[in-house]
Amino acid sequence: MELGVCYYPEQTSEENWTGDVAKIKNLGLEWVRIGEFSWAMCEPHPGQYQFGWLERVIALLKREGMKIILGTPTATPPKWLSDQYPDILASDRDGRVRNFGSRRHYCFSSPRYRQESRRITTEFARRFAHLVDGWQTDNEYGCHDTVLSYSAAAQDGFRIWLGQKYGTIAALNDAWGNQFWSMIYRDFSEIDLPNLTTTEANPSHWLDFHRYSSAQVVDFNLEQVTIIQQNGGRNIGHNYMGFFTDFDHYDVAQALDFVGWDSYPLGFMSKLNFTAAEKIRYARVGHPDIPAFHHELYRQMTAEQRFWVMEQQPGAVNWAAYNPAPAQGMVRLWSWQAFAHGAEVVSYFRFEQYAKAQEQFHHGLFTPERNLAQGGKEASQIASEIKKLGNILPKAQKNTAKIALVFDFPSIWANKIQPQGDSYHTLDIMFRCYSAVRQLGHDLAIIPATADFTQYDVVIAPSLPLVADDLSQKLKNFKGKCLLLPRFASKSQALTIDLKQHREICGFAISTSESLPDGFFDQATIDLKDKNGLAQPQTLQLGIWRDHADPDSLDPAIEILARYRDGGILLSRYGHIFRLMGLPDHEIINKILVTYLGIHDRNYPQDCRATKLGDLVFMQNFSPVSHDLQPLAENAELIMGDLSVAPYSVNIWRLHTPQ
Ligand code: GAL
Repeated sequence: MELGVCYYPEQTSEENWTGDVAKIKNLGLEWVRIGEFSWAMCEPHPGQYQFGWLERVIALLKREGMKIILGTPTATPPKWLSDQYPDILASDRDGRVRNFGSRRHYCFSSPRYRQESRRITTEFARRFAHLVDGWQTDNEYGCHDTVLSYSAAAQDGFRIWLGQKYGTIAALNDAWGNQFWSMIYRDFSEIDLPNLTTTEANPSHWLDFHRYSSAQVVDFNLEQVTIIQQNGGRNIGHNYMGFFTDFDHYDVAQALDFVGWDSYPLGFMSKLNFTAAEKIRYARVGHPDIPAFHHELYRQMTAEQRFWVMEQQPGAVNWAAYNPAPAQGMVRLWSWQAFAHGAEVVSYFRFEQYAKAQEQFHHGLFTPERNLAQGGKEASQIASEIKKLGNILPKAQKNTAKIALVFDFPSIWANKIQPQGDSYHTLDIMFRCYSAVRQLGHDLAIIPATADFTQYDVVIAPSLPLVADDLSQKLKNFKGKCLLLPRFASKSQALTIDLKQHREICGFAISTSESLPDGFFDQATIDLKDKNGLAQPQTLQLGIWRDHADPDSLDPAIEILARYRDGGILLSRYGHIFRLMGLPDHEIINKILVTYLGIHDRNYPQDCRATKLGDLVFMQNFSPVSHDLQPLAENAELIMGDLSVAPYSVNIWRLHTPQ
């Protein structure tokens, strides 16, 4: 458990460096991330390198005993590069070129940019691989909507990729169903990108374009990792974002030693469909499960489950619809929460609030005048707490949860391509299911569809339209219980209708799926356990989406657990497979989990969360009032904080008998 900070020596005068590094050290931070936007300062003119300043910073940091994460600078190609080679620029969906003047204007498909990325990465790696302690490739792949580029380079690359995937144009026409609307192609060279069509393009065309674009990110990253490794660099990660799914993060992570992610809990409140009441309730706190959801998603991306928070929100940010300052204590609570979920390092973005350019409103650990800000005070508190606890704190550990949620990027793309209803938001549904389990007091893992399920008792698939054959087998053979929600197994890998898998796994076929306008509800009745464990019938209002079973397809072994008022199935059971046909809110989902999937409610107060790490339990209070918080285990000893946890605070327990 170590702390760090993102520092931009190139944005301040050299005179400040010594004092800045002393401040970082005095806070008790151990890591400094530098360099990820520094290309124009390292190569001010084509081929004329000026690495002296970076060498001096690195030497200073080393002298002071700091550990360094160095970023490759490819998120910010310099002006001269795009002037010299305009073909490195990306194009947006309307076909407009993305100009210089901010960042991430490059196209992953541009062969020239790939070459430039390899060149500058080589220059960095040759000079610094033996000096630094870790690497970050690029910065936030996809930020500012930059995975899908509609450039000429992307078009060329896509055609080649399709040729390799399908072999013959007849195979592609058949897979996509191009007889429809006379969309037949005679050759791969005729295929354009799926933007700028009169009305929607073929969904299979779109899904392949998503797969292609994701593969470019994978290759781009792999090229940098390979160069860094060839030069002796180790400990290589990338910083992923929150609620962002435009490339397959599992695929990119295959090349990484650890996964980083950038945690801005308040900013992320604008990314999901939170209710007006939730937006107010969590304005200065963020929904308690937003950070945890991402910690668990990114934790499972490397075999060793190594993850970092590369950028932790230290105060107000500048980029969301509204940018409140966090309640006092939240920076500390978010940091402890990250460690509780297994983070190796929490690194704050950024050292100082910068007086110039785009992010002037973004707080840092220090003010623009380099006085300690609230975030800095809290960072220093955690640093001393970690020091005090010393060896009691375990090294980052793997998730041992018995409940898992399946997360699948191609399924998310499929839903995005064919939303079918404006109110169906895949990530929202994923998050609500995750939160439902957390609110019951349990840990859970977020796993890819390719994961081994055998260690789990319960697997939940909140939205999984694409089910490959091996996943289907795994679900059928699973020894625990599965809860499958709407859209499950509805489409083939080519994004065409495929009903076979659903029938085999769930014991019946889907006849119809419908989306419902906001405010329109169907009623259903379901028995749900109350606080005393007694099952009572409850009436539900269900909107947004509904799947209907084909009544002629029901396997005799199907048990109907709940029905809509009109007689349609709401919840069925086929052996260990529970299939929910509508979308209840998270409070009902957690009651369904309690009543039918056997998960018990640990009854912690609202907005309090328990997270287990090895033999420690972190009890976190995200509410504005104090709560007595202890784990349910009898035999536990308080090792940090008090039984009564103040608002926005945490206590830590050690269990003597495993829970
Ligand atoms: C991240 C980015 C940083 C900074 C930060 C502001 O997305 O990686 O460079 O812009 O947001 O919150």
